[in-house]
Amino acid sequence: MEKQRLDKIIASTGKWSRREAKELIRQGRVLVDGVPARSAEERADPETAAVTVNGEVLEYRRYTWVMLNKPAGCLSATEDGRGQTVLDLLPADLRRQGLFPVGRLDKDTEGLLLLTNEGGLAHALLSPKRHVDKVYYTRVTGRLTEADCQAFAGGLTLADGLVCLPAGLEILSAGEESEAYVTLREGKFHQVKRMLACLGKPVAYLERIRMGPLALDRDLPRGAFRFLTENELEELRRFDNPTKNVKSSPKT
Ligand code: URA
Repeated sequence: MEKQRLDKIIASTGKWSRREAKELIRQGRVLVDGVPARSAEERADPETAAVTVNGEVLEYRRYTWVMLNKPAGCLSATEDGRGQTVLDLLPADLRRQGLFPVGRLDKDTEGLLLLTNEGGLAHALLSPKRHVDKVYYTRVTGRLTEADCQAFAGGLTLADGLVCLPAGLEILSAGEESEAYVTLREGKFHQVKRMLACLGKPVAYLERIRMGPLALDRDLPRGAFRFLTENELEELRRFDNPTKNVKSSPKT
């Protein structure tokens, strides 16, 4: 791999900002292959060099993955001239890493949003072929019924002709307002809202609580983010192109 500046390598772990990395280097706490680093501009190959910080071996990550607990009121976009975006909730160091949201949540939708700079895996997670379930908690106006669940399971056809894949609707409470979990395998524009509106039960509140194997971390306050753990990343990678590592059989 191409050599990179030491402060960049250290900051890529997400544990320290570049400014903190510079300070650690200045204090002599960073070693490269056993030799104290002299400056942040020093370059090393992050995949082969043994970089230690305070005596601990640094785990270099080629790509960054974060889980954000999106609040209402910000856009799932990388930039927007008019309003706050989810990128604005991240520190400057991370914003410089070219992160983008994995799929979109509406401005008023809250909850689990992944951001990364790993295009291939992000794309795989969004593909309906990969069967990555997205689960939402919703509150709707009106009484949800068993017939609504069956309509979801059968694949709704919306007023504009969009045919939805079979989806899950699990009623949590039913009354003048109802609560439910909705499970989708695809992510069309305003899909949950359109599906429920089509049944005459408009969405009053929507929160994504799961994406494939990853549940929204309930310890993450609204508006806060954290890095995905190695285990979480491994779980996500199972959804990457399953044929990628399989050698094709020779043509006869
Ligand atoms: N479906 C919606 O209607 N809105 C979202 O933000 C996500 C799914």
